Amino acid sequence: MLGKVYVFDHPLIQHKLTIIRDKNTGTKEFRELVDEVATLMAFEITRDLPLQEVEVETPVCSANAKTLAGKKLGVVPILRAGIGMVDGILKLIPAAKVGHVGLYRDPETLMPVEYYVKLPSDVEERDFIVVDPMLATGGSAVEAIRSLKKRGATSIRFMCLVAAPEGVEALQEAHPDVDIYIAAMDEKLNEKGYIVPGLGDAGDRLFGTK
Ligand code: PRP
Ligand code: URA
Repeated sequence: MLGKVYVFDHPLIQHKLTIIRDKNTGTKEFRELVDEVATLMAFEITRDLPLQEVEVETPVCSANAKTLAGKKLGVVPILRAGIGMVDGILKLIPAAKVGHVGLYRDPETLMPVEYYVKLPSDVEERDFIVVDPMLATGGSAVEAIRSLKKRGATSIRFMCLVAAPEGVEALQEAHPDVDIYIAAMDEKLNEKGYIVPGLGDAGDRLFGTK
């Protein structure tokens, strides 16, 4: 069975994503909005986290209440652009540890080239969310998740802002155990491997490079 695809169509996410897409949105606002959308997506993606019953002493009496249970979380941005989503996620799950996978797409071949990996030491014990604003050909996400699995990760989800159908298909095929969470499914890739309509080069827009 293939991994499921969830599209977060919450109005706030869609509104902010439209401004992110706009070519006239500058670096500062782009960065702030990616951060905000990441927080909203983190709220949605954590909807199914398991809870446990606990007892709490309120100022009034003792009460049965709930806290998070289950495995610890890990967030893994794919460098560079994934970094733009990390703080937004950590606002909601501050106890999560953060790993990094550095990959860039060779502009000629569009194949991912890995240059850095650093993960929490207790990889086997964590549920991971791999994050990157863009899922284009899928090469980077497929390779990043392969890298995590090679180091012992067994529970992985992938979260991005904009996906192309080609990338979703490639990721589902390579990693059928990984569910995919996106803010928008776009139309296609162009001849340069950019998502259409997309938002351009996410790393460049986040960091003001060209
Ligand atoms: C972008 C983006 C993804 C990748 C998606 O990174 O942030 O990581 O491309 O494309 P794919 O699905 O075809 O692999 P890029 O390679 O431009 O590196 P950067 O984040 O360092 O700019
Ligand atoms: N990487 C990006 O940053 N944008 C795209 O449209 C495709 C890959």
